[in-house]
Amino acid sequence: AQRTLILVKPDGVKRNIIGDVISRIERKGLKVIALELRTIEVDTAHAHYAEHAEKPFFGELVDFITSGPLVALVAEGDRAIEAFRALAGATDPVKATPGTIRGDYALQVAQNIVHGSDSPESAEREIKIFFPELV
Ligand code: GTP
Ligand code: MG
Repeated sequence: AQRTLILVKPDGVKRNIIGDVISRIERKGLKVIALELRTIEVDTAHAHYAEHAEKPFFGELVDFITSGPLVALVAEGDRAIEAFRALAGATDPVKATPGTIRGDYALQVAQNIVHGSDSPESAEREIKIFFPELV
């Protein structure tokens, strides 16, 4: 089975919807195999978002993701990466279909509630960052 790294970002934790996000993951049939609530360091944020280092919003992205506790989890199942990206909805939450996590809960791209790995290579890299003991 495939694994994916999912984050309930600090906005999702502040809004008390950790349970709903996990519920949607479980209802879909994915299995949560690791889970942790923590506030990450700037170095960890840089590693996680390395692909965005040159983007104009990188500073904001790092400030936001380190601004408070997040929930990191690993979910496992058939095509888990694609399955969770579909549950999450489009990056821009206004374009995300209602019924998806972002479509139901968010209005701003910078605060779009969740992250999900976008490829098997990203998943492996991101799982190593958050759950080195799992690899
Ligand atoms: P993730 O699952 O979080 O990686 O989202 P994504 O794969 O749908 O989007 P992408 O990897 O392209 O961007 C990563 C994150 O950067 C997004 O989820 C947004 O929260 C954030 N982001 C994207 N565009 C902007 C922007 O213009 N400003 C800010 N502040 N954040 C942005
Ligand atoms: Mg991404």
